[in-house]
Amino acid sequence: MNILILGGGGREHSLAWAVMQNPKCDKLIVAPGNAGIARIAECAVLDIEDGARVVDFCNVNAITFVIIGPEAPLAAGVSDALEAAGILCFGPSRAAAALEASKSFTKEICGAARAPTAAYARFTEAQDAKTHIRNHGAPIVVKADGLAAGKGVIVAMDEATALAAIDDMFGGAFGAAGAEVVIEEFMTGEEGSLFVLSDGEMLLPIGTAQDHKRVGEGDTGPNTGGMGAYSPAPVLTEAVVARAMEEIVAPTMRVMAERGMPYKGVLYAGLMVEDGQPRLVEYNVRFGDPECQVLMMRLGAQALDLMVACAEGALAGRQVNWADDHAMTVVMAANGYPGPYEKGSVIGGLDALPEDSRHMVFHAGTRAKDGQVTAAGGRVLNITTRAESLLAARDAAYEMIDNIDWPGGFNRGDIGWRALT
Ligand code: AMP
Ligand code: GLY
Repeated sequence: MNILILGGGGREHSLAWAVMQNPKCDKLIVAPGNAGIARIAECAVLDIEDGARVVDFCNVNAITFVIIGPEAPLAAGVSDALEAAGILCFGPSRAAAALEASKSFTKEICGAARAPTAAYARFTEAQDAKTHIRNHGAPIVVKADGLAAGKGVIVAMDEATALAAIDDMFGGAFGAAGAEVVIEEFMTGEEGSLFVLSDGEMLLPIGTAQDHKRVGEGDTGPNTGGMGAYSPAPVLTEAVVARAMEEIVAPTMRVMAERGMPYKGVLYAGLMVEDGQPRLVEYNVRFGDPECQVLMMRLGAQALDLMVACAEGALAGRQVNWADDHAMTVVMAANGYPGPYEKGSVIGGLDALPEDSRHMVFHAGTRAKDGQVTAAGGRVLNITTRAESLLAARDAAYEMIDNIDWPGGFNRGDIGWRALT
């Protein structure tokens, strides 16, 4: 099988790493890829949000299976273009991708599915939104309706912050994503992420993870794309997962199918758990980054078989083979991230690190330059490990970090703290 992966972050490096271990993969191309991916696969330049170009590329390169990593190509309908061209693709249709691309759409579907989630109201006028906030008081959550690269959510602990967020959003701080605003009840509890494959009919949970969204230790400071993750997530016990599948994921998927947009691909359910009751925070229509890295570390080569079965509508009877293990990934980011950060700093020490089924450095924003690896993005490396316990995985990850020589970058020293205390 000749495979194309779209994307160039740590998520896509881990997908490429898992795919390459499976003998069914004859050839792998990643677009655009990065310096780490270039060591294990061919990287190509391609406009990955242009369905027609992706289809042409597949035809020219005899690609028979496409894995779409990020949300932007999904929201742009690349999956639909591939399906129309008869090319097997892992990733939902543009219509189904609205579960991530529009928060008000998701809320409406959750209502029809009776899936437990925060109470909400939607607004297109700033004055009405502000009146709603004054009536409800803080804490309260203000969200730009559309895709805002993970930054369109303001969890306001006081009314003034919520009112300022309304001004920002209607003032165009998030572009078109902020033309409509969703205001939600503030939910308390512990968060965890559940990953489920859906082939349009059958569902298969493939693992849980917990990430660290804040840049600072103790989960403080501004939000980021994610500073580290681990799998499994202790808060998502078997009983909580069973409940989330029955009360949230399965009814959502039923409503999507009833409305003529059956969901095919991986569904990422962000859950808030309190007293054993999961409630939906949000759906994403792709693997999380860096959650994917810990899932791939644990799934290995079977990830390809599962994704192909999912795309073929053949999940019935499939199982996931789990080792009784734990994985952790620690993100190394360029100094300054998530604000303005420097680019081009040289990263040393990578060649001496172990790379095997228990230790991997997945690259995110890196570039190869004159035989050296340099930083080319905000999140740059994902130091990923697997062991019998989370503690052992953590120790192994931080031991690797001790051997990386990169004055231009930083990492959190407390990934996994919630699960380890
Ligand atoms: P989202 O992009 O919707 O996942 O929101 C980003 C983060 O904001 C979530 O991971 C939560 O930590 C927090 N959040 C979002 N919605 C709520 C809510 N209704 N109550 C409490 N926290 C929330
Ligand atoms: N790590 C959060 C996300 O991928 O959305």
